[in-house]
Amino acid sequence: MVRAVRMSETGDPDVMIYEHVVLGAPGPGEVLVRHMACGLNFIDVYFRTGLYPQTLPAGLGMEAAGIVEAVGAGVSVVAVGDRVAYAGRPIGAYSEARIMPADNLVRLPDSISFETAAAMMLQGLTVQYLFHRTFPLQGGETILFHAAAGGVGLIACQWARAIGVTMIGTVGSDEKAVLAKEHGCAHVINYNNENFVQRVREITEGKGVPVVYDSIGKDTFTGSLDCLSPLGMMVSFGNASGPVPPFALNELASRGSLFITRPSLMTYTAKRADLEMMAAHLFAMVESGKIKIDIRQRYPLSEVAQAHRDLEARKTTGSTLLIP
Ligand SMILES: NC(=O)c1ccc[n+]([C@@H]2O[C@H](COP(=O)([O-])OP(=O)(O)OC[C@H]3O[C@@H](n4cnc5c(N)ncnc54)[C@H](OP(=O)(O)O)[C@@H]3O)[C@@H](O)[C@H]2O)c1
Repeated sequence: MVRAVRMSETGDPDVMIYEHVVLGAPGPGEVLVRHMACGLNFIDVYFRTGLYPQTLPAGLGMEAAGIVEAVGAGVSVVAVGDRVAYAGRPIGAYSEARIMPADNLVRLPDSISFETAAAMMLQGLTVQYLFHRTFPLQGGETILFHAAAGGVGLIACQWARAIGVTMIGTVGSDEKAVLAKEHGCAHVINYNNENFVQRVREITEGKGVPVVYDSIGKDTFTGSLDCLSPLGMMVSFGNASGPVPPFALNELASRGSLFITRPSLMTYTAKRADLEMMAAHLFAMVESGKIKIDIRQRYPLSEVAQAHRDLEARKTTGSTLLIP
């Protein structure tokens, strides 16, 4: 038996129950991972509330780091005793230990601690694909990135600086503005008291930006389109304020033949070779010191409901860990 967070209905944070579950043994292609730290991500809120549907009862959580304790038949990518981490499906990372498909795990270099790994796999791999695959940045661009002081955001600030990209970041408070700046965001806009479209136009001298990375969704969608230069790319990769309502395609034509994509990390890491390439890139960025994973909140896993409340209330900054 191990303890794991389970939910039998969707709803507010109290639907998450930390209880004893039977673990079992790993089957073919599977391993048993003992978690040292689990990551908290906004996608966990979408699954908890039911915005993203899943069959219930279910676990929660998509990111953790730990040690391989047992391997099933045919597993070759990891061995017993390996330090590993993962981000993605199957859901159920909020647990002391669990069974995982071996192919979804990456081995950790000695230089990367369990806590750093659990805090960065999902958010860091996301920045990797957003900046290098969805809209590959060459250096020299000015980009708009929303929620710059959040978990994904603080990694994006540092990554942009490291590759010579000028990042305009939005944040919800003046304290968060200071934090984003300290992490390398060149221009910070507090969208609670400034018009971010107007500010982006001013900063870019009327030209607009070639790409917007928007994880806020409903509240910022139209404004984000208004920040793009002709042929610009709208990367809508989240819905912290609610999902983007349906819109007329002509909105893209009238603003200058814009492009739009709605990417998910799971697609970008679906092939093992891609997962390994992306993880190696992320590890190299951290090992070089160009990116420091800023763990700004830690909660015991038993207090996961409070962690969700704080995340949804916009009280957290940077990355957050849940410790089993
Ligand atoms: N598609 C993908 O592959 C992918 C992968 C990872 C993450 N994501 C998305 O990226 C976003 C960031 O994820 P994260 O885990 O790093 O979270 P986070 O940025 O640490 O937290 C979300 C932030 O969104 C901002 N926000 C704006 N309106 C909000 C509202 N109505 N309610 C709550 N927050 C609001 C808040 O910052 P301010 O107070 O500064 O506004 C809040 O701190 C999420 O939308 C997530 O779903 C997508």
